[in-house]
Amino acid sequence: MLLSPPLAVLLLGLQSALCLGLGGQNLWLLKDKVLRSQEQRAQRYLLESWKAFPARSKGGWTEPREGFFPQPLDHFNRRNNATYKQRFWVNTELWEREQGPVFLYIGGEGALTPYSVLAGEHVDLARKYRALLVSLEHRYYGASINPDGLTDQKIQFLSSQQALADLATFHAFISQQYNLTRSNTWICFGGSYPGSLSAWFRLKFPHLVYAAVASSAPVRAQLDFTAYNKVVSQSLSNPIVGGSLKCRAAVAHVFSRLDQILKGGNTSGLEADFGSCRKLNGSDDYGEFVSNLADIIMGTVQYNQETPDNSIANLCQVMTNHSLGSAYQRLVLLNKNYMASMELKCVDNSHQNVLEKLRSTEVKPYGVGERQWYYQTCAEFGYYQTCEDEGCPLSRWMTLQSQVGVCAQIFGIHPGSVQQAVYFTNEYYGADHPESSRIIFVNGNIDPWHALSVLKNQSSSEVAVVINGTAHCANMNPPEDRDPPSLRQARQKIDDQIGIWLASAHQYPW
Ligand SMILES: *[C@@H]1O[C@H](CO)[C@@H](O)[C@H](O)[C@H]1NC(C)=O
Ligand SMILES: *[C@@H]1O[C@H](CO)[C@@H](O)[C@H](O)[C@H]1NC(C)=O
Ligand SMILES: *[C@@H]1O[C@H](CO)[C@@H](O)[C@H](O)[C@H]1NC(C)=O
Ligand SMILES: *[C@@H]1O[C@H](CO)[C@@H](O)[C@H](O)[C@H]1NC(C)=O
Ligand SMILES: *[C@@H]1O[C@H](CO)[C@@H](O)[C@H](O)[C@H]1NC(C)=O
Ligand SMILES: *[C@@H]1O[C@H](CO)[C@@H](O)[C@H](O)[C@H]1NC(C)=O
Ligand SMILES: *[C@@H]1O[C@H](CO)[C@@H](O)[C@H](O)[C@H]1NC(C)=O
Repeated sequence: MLLSPPLAVLLLGLQSALCLGLGGQNLWLLKDKVLRSQEQRAQRYLLESWKAFPARSKGGWTEPREGFFPQPLDHFNRRNNATYKQRFWVNTELWEREQGPVFLYIGGEGALTPYSVLAGEHVDLARKYRALLVSLEHRYYGASINPDGLTDQKIQFLSSQQALADLATFHAFISQQYNLTRSNTWICFGGSYPGSLSAWFRLKFPHLVYAAVASSAPVRAQLDFTAYNKVVSQSLSNPIVGGSLKCRAAVAHVFSRLDQILKGGNTSGLEADFGSCRKLNGSDDYGEFVSNLADIIMGTVQYNQETPDNSIANLCQVMTNHSLGSAYQRLVLLNKNYMASMELKCVDNSHQNVLEKLRSTEVKPYGVGERQWYYQTCAEFGYYQTCEDEGCPLSRWMTLQSQVGVCAQIFGIHPGSVQQAVYFTNEYYGADHPESSRIIFVNGNIDPWHALSVLKNQSSSEVAVVINGTAHCANMNPPEDRDPPSLRQARQKIDDQIGIWLASAHQYPW
């Protein structure tokens, strides 16, 4: 379908999944907000690039093709012939037909949108290298799931192994649809969990994909992810992003104060001050209460500068400003600002409600998949963001036991099994020393997830880029004027590396 570009962009709908993470309830809300903000930026960027190239938009603009194709529900059992329909997008606009490479954008723990083939670093690279752009939504997320997919029985077919096998089938499907040959070099891209999938697709299917870019990819599974909050602590103290030791100290101080009050058991002041929807009912609710407040801090660090009002610099300006009252009163203010920006009337701190949400098998075709992702943490990755360590600046109520306990309550997976699953994942993929080639791992040192990624060159063709001063998946966004030099250099490095790899595959220059 041909449309004039601005109209087409407005018709594309408003959900995407560019780069996610894990966390408590407030962090899920923040993620949704980050996605919306990334989409708005993508829209602005697209409109600006059309203005810059009016000649191109004259002939109209081909809307990316959305399609579905059937996938085996279980790739590893041919006696099960059940299938589901998996969603994908194709953008042929930039492709040098017949010879050009194929850039595959891998979806993750949320719905994918047309933006997955319209905006971002991989699209800018596709423009330069004249690539066919394709993206695949992850099984069990978005629209790529059967109506009964979330039942206890059916959710067993959700795994990274099945997802990689889906990518192999997709490779064959697209190759057939577009008459591709072995001379069409595939390169895959992904950020966060899909960053891991990107690296693993190259690792396990080197005959299908020539090279991979893995952004903010937590390839090392870990049950007790204590390092997450260690990085949060460092980032709150890091002047490069507007942090300071004073800021970190104020945060640590107020959370230890909250812990003290909770220990005393009189929570009526907290409920009023922090806008709790209901009275806190026992220690499970205390855990939700502090996690929701910690999420504001953790989310600000993880998504530093992703939305206009969300940055470590702003947070620290409030937390260190004595004219705003005690550290407690400053956190009250931060929470108030957060609630206003999310349009929340009150904060739901009920642990029962969280469990109910995670138990719900209702399929929603948009946004992030909380039940699915929690299942994957229980069955494969762990990644529990705990705060039981000495140096953690947040609440001691954020325990491993409370987070891993949910696996047993919801999915009947006991802590010992979660630990075994984590060991297996690392054995299966090679943790943070995967033995592969032609993979580029990109991380920002402000991002708490970088602690589980590959930070050192593994070989001359399995290389690590660490960006000084950026957060989760910053390199995947379209470039902006305010980008620090370290980020520009990283994007250039990725570009150069892809150029070298395509040349070695005889795909570039033309
Ligand atoms: C799946 O297998 C069953 C028997 O196991 C058979 O009756 C059915 O026709 C098969 N369905 C498809 C789509 O092949
Ligand atoms: C693929 O090749 C077939 C047969 O040569 C042709 O009919 C078809 O149009 C081609 N498809 C594309 C997308 O180029
Ligand atoms: C509980 O705390 C509130 C406010 O902090 C205070 O007004 C109230 O007197 C306390 N109740 C008890 C029973 O200590
Ligand atoms: C409080 O929690 C207990 C279990 O911890 C539960 O039995 C009870 O129903 C809860 N009360 C309310 C008002 O939710
Ligand atoms: C501290 O807060 C006061 C009151 O809102 C404000 O006027 C002042 O500019 C703030 N100072 C800094 C350094 O942000
Ligand atoms: C990693 O490899 C890249 C490219 O080969 C090189 O430019 C970089 O200096 C290496 N980094 C380290 C820390 O060895
Ligand atoms: C990051 O940049 C800051 C400021 O430019 C510098 O002081 C610091 O040493 C750099 N850190 C690393 C790890 O390169």
